[in-house]
Amino acid sequence: MSGSHEAVFLVHDDQTVTIRGERFRKYLTAETLAQRTRELGQQIAADYGDEKPILIGVLNGAFIFLADLMREIQIDCEVDFLKLSSYGASKITSGKVTELKAVDADITGRHLIVVEDIVDTGLSMQFLIERLSKENPASIRVATLLHKAEATRVDVPLDYVGFRIRNLFVVGYGLDYGQVGRNLADIYILEDQMDPGNAPEKGPITPR
Ligand code: IMP
Ligand code: MG
Repeated sequence: MSGSHEAVFLVHDDQTVTIRGERFRKYLTAETLAQRTRELGQQIAADYGDEKPILIGVLNGAFIFLADLMREIQIDCEVDFLKLSSYGASKITSGKVTELKAVDADITGRHLIVVEDIVDTGLSMQFLIERLSKENPASIRVATLLHKAEATRVDVPLDYVGFRIRNLFVVGYGLDYGQVGRNLADIYILEDQMDPGNAPEKGPITPR
């Protein structure tokens, strides 16, 4: 029997899930995520007015956050995607970033909002801001659902931050563990990292 048919994803109960033999516990509920996404979307709408920004979603992880965020940005806006190399099945970053898919839109002279699921070391964000800048957009801002501030090694401006979290491995709501778990509606962390000192806090929003 092929290993690819093994059960890697098991929903236990309302609070716990096991993925690839590791137990995860609910950390940010769908309701909390929706509430915060609404706050970010309303600020983005207020900041851009009739400038018709293009949301640039970073595949794969950002697709669920982007879909929810875009519906909270109730002004004229567009969407496009790019894809960077990922971590593979590991829980730690390799530190190497490459572009696997470029944006299709003509972004020259346009206002861009890069939408990420999470900024960890910041290397992906640094790479893609440099890459997008070469096309001379009118502006680039960044919206990220999560920021591991203590893990960030490079200086990247993050304008709309959903939550700041400690250096925790998270899964769900688009974020994966070896491609598994993206379809969980809530965000989970490893059970043994569940600690009052690891509680998420709202991140900063910098109005434009
Ligand atoms: P960075 O380049 O180290 O900032 O990594 C950013 C990318 O790594 C994100 O877009 C995610 O796809 C992935 N990533 C970082 N931390 C996690 C995590 O805790 N769970 C799942 N994916 C993560
Ligand atoms: Mg990502």
